[in-house]
Amino acid sequence: MRRSYRRVPAVLLLLLLAGCSGGSQSTLHASGFGAQRTEGLWWLFFWISVAVFAEVMALLGWAVWRRRRPNARIRGGDSLGMVTVLGVAIPFVILVVVYGFGLQDLNALASPPKKADVTVDVVGHRWWWEVHYADQPGAVTANEIHIPVGESVRIRLRTADVQHSFWVPNLMPKTDLIAGKLNSTWLYTDKAGTYRGQCAEYCGQQHAFMAFRVVAEPPTVFHSWVTALATPPARTLTTAQQHGLQVFEQSSCASCHTIRGTTAAGTIGPDLSSIGSRWSIGAGAAPNDAGHLGGWIANSQTIKPGNAMPPQPVAAQDLPDLVAYLQSLK
Ligand code: CUA
Repeated sequence: MRRSYRRVPAVLLLLLLAGCSGGSQSTLHASGFGAQRTEGLWWLFFWISVAVFAEVMALLGWAVWRRRRPNARIRGGDSLGMVTVLGVAIPFVILVVVYGFGLQDLNALASPPKKADVTVDVVGHRWWWEVHYADQPGAVTANEIHIPVGESVRIRLRTADVQHSFWVPNLMPKTDLIAGKLNSTWLYTDKAGTYRGQCAEYCGQQHAFMAFRVVAEPPTVFHSWVTALATPPARTLTTAQQHGLQVFEQSSCASCHTIRGTTAAGTIGPDLSSIGSRWSIGAGAAPNDAGHLGGWIANSQTIKPGNAMPPQPVAAQDLPDLVAYLQSLK
């Protein structure tokens, strides 16, 4: 029994170290102007808490020491002044200062550092993110937002069902998606890279698998990516991929999903026009490879129970071709 208690500090230390690993999804690795403001506020709170904790511990030590002195006499008169200063005046000053900094940050976060050139409409679904580029009709994707480095991007947020919250910890604090309301936020970063985002409002069974990625890339790369997304290039399909396309168009897949340039125009599930290049399937539920994609099509309920896609009765001999076709959509 005693031995297991001894392991507790080691486990805590490991958890702490895990929290320090670089490049993680964390507000304390700010890479954008918005998250830098929150990170600054976090450190201000942290150091104030450290100072208050140290002060309380010092006073406690001092009281114990005084009590233990031989001939210690407890006088009643000097405690009221101390309580007034340490218990009322100092906390009041701390709260006012912190409130002031908080208001300043709220004001700074209200609008992006530059005028937004790109607008992205994001719709929250249980449990995935629909992404539309407002200036490029047809540029639709899911669970992935590309943004140009050094430019402000306006993000307009709506929900198709319950309340969700849009959060990219390294770039920007949370903004809620509220039924019947259009909310907005923005993203801005000077650092190219990939940043993980996460729904931050409990929205049901698969809330944890409502993740997305923000890919910040040089403006030229971004603009060619978004143009290619809006107008998919003509593809030369192999015989297997051609057969996969037929299976897709003739099965129930096409009534829920859109693939631009085909007859599939469903709008219930995510747009699959660029599925082959996405970072994951099921909004972070599984890696995007042939095995998981095949498993997902056959019965996604085993990977992400409760999601809206029912098991698909695709014949076993057709499945590899269907997967090969979807993987070619880059
Ligand atoms: Cu959407 Cu939690």
